Amino acid sequence: MISVRIADRKCEAHNIFSFELVSASGEALPPFSAGSHIDIHLPNGLIRQYSLYNSSQADHSYKIAVLLAPEGRGGSSAMHQLQTGQELKISQPRNLFPLSHEAKRTLLFAGGIGITPILSMAERLSQIDAEFELHYYSRSSEHAAFAEKLKNCSFSDRVNLYFDSEPDTKPDLASMLANRTLDEHLFVCGPTGFMNFVLDTARTVGWGEARLHREYFANEAADTNSDQSFEITIASTQQVLNVPAERSILQVLMENDIEIPYSCEQGVCGTCLVRVLEGTPDHRDLYLSASERSANDQILTCCSRALGKKLVLDI
Ligand code: FES
Repeated sequence: MISVRIADRKCEAHNIFSFELVSASGEALPPFSAGSHIDIHLPNGLIRQYSLYNSSQADHSYKIAVLLAPEGRGGSSAMHQLQTGQELKISQPRNLFPLSHEAKRTLLFAGGIGITPILSMAERLSQIDAEFELHYYSRSSEHAAFAEKLKNCSFSDRVNLYFDSEPDTKPDLASMLANRTLDEHLFVCGPTGFMNFVLDTARTVGWGEARLHREYFANEAADTNSDQSFEITIASTQQVLNVPAERSILQVLMENDIEIPYSCEQGVCGTCLVRVLEGTPDHRDLYLSASERSANDQILTCCSRALGKKLVLDI
């Protein structure tokens, strides 16, 4: 865990504040690569992940931007209440969304606040003089964080901004993605519907999964109406625990003093991953790939459940 202080807090767009975090002790912060995120331990006990949007060459601070989600679970509103000078605990940066070194050209797609990791990636690609293009979709110019910065940066000629308020400016995505070469890679971050639209369109015009990279920042609430209880067996002790319909595997483990690491509690970060030795998971996360899901040998315990009556977990 790292102690940081909020050195700056700025309004970047409608309902979006940015925070610059510096080391509270004065020691240099650990380096990070473009696409990294940090866990923030909020004063109300919640832990939330935010992507770093600044250049990965900057070692003196971490910069994040937070969209207020009025219907959210309290993380973004707690973040928005933080003030300059306040101290926080954060994790080391982790990168689950790294740039591809195989890409000869990189297509960056950002929807709304999904611009944060994409901005850091664009800075990095620009620094190493790599081929890239950035497509940034937002509701309007008032909602688009960093729009002015992008219009005036050294790589502004690679940036395309599209606003819902100006629908005629939006290109046909299928045409844009068609006839690309096999050494081009696509990276997308934003709301789930936007990401699925970009990824599905790319697949339709022939893109393979290996060249499609994504980072979800929130999981949609699953329909829990037909959830059933099931049993989990802890392989190391043979302890059998009941997971009621209204509890998660993670909650049941914690209530029984079985500690496993966790962070987002939304099936996004992958921290609560556990191996499955028997039984079939009902995968509800956004972390595992399609092939990892179909192998059925691991589960995100914060959100996924069992398709049958029993799972044996490698704990
Ligand atoms: Fe993040 Fe479970 S805690 S995926």
